[in-house]
Amino acid sequence: MAKVEWDDSLSVNVDLIDEQHKMLIQRLSDLHEAVGAHKGPNEIVRTLNFLSEYTEFHFGTEETHMKANDYPEMAEHMKLHDEFRGTITSLGEDFEEEGATASLADSIEILLVNWLLKHIRGTDVRFGQFLREKGIVLVGEA
Ligand SMILES: [Fe+2]
Repeated sequence: MAKVEWDDSLSVNVDLIDEQHKMLIQRLSDLHEAVGAHKGPNEIVRTLNFLSEYTEFHFGTEETHMKANDYPEMAEHMKLHDEFRGTITSLGEDFEEEGATASLADSIEILLVNWLLKHIRGTDVRFGQFLREKGIVLVGEA
């Protein structure tokens, strides 16, 4: 597949969230590359852990600000985050059982990469609009 990269079409017009999305996409891309290149198990576990940690950090940021601002679509948005967390866990289990197979690389592309791009373009863009309409500026670490 083509390299996964952040571009302007993925902007939610909230700087902090855009910066975190760039990092998340980078880590996802690293995992996809490691699996596609049949890197050793240590390297794959490392990139998978990196992705998983950063996912927690990033979803945590969005969820904190959804709660703090009584975002009306919070429950639905958090359910989607849980879906992605669950997928990472189950792909990690597939990797432990079967190693870096072609089907694992496909699953990463379809279940993680495509899912995330769609999530950013729809669900996160709506959250970004909400924050901007309320004049809320997020500060924090990317
Ligand atoms: Fe989100």
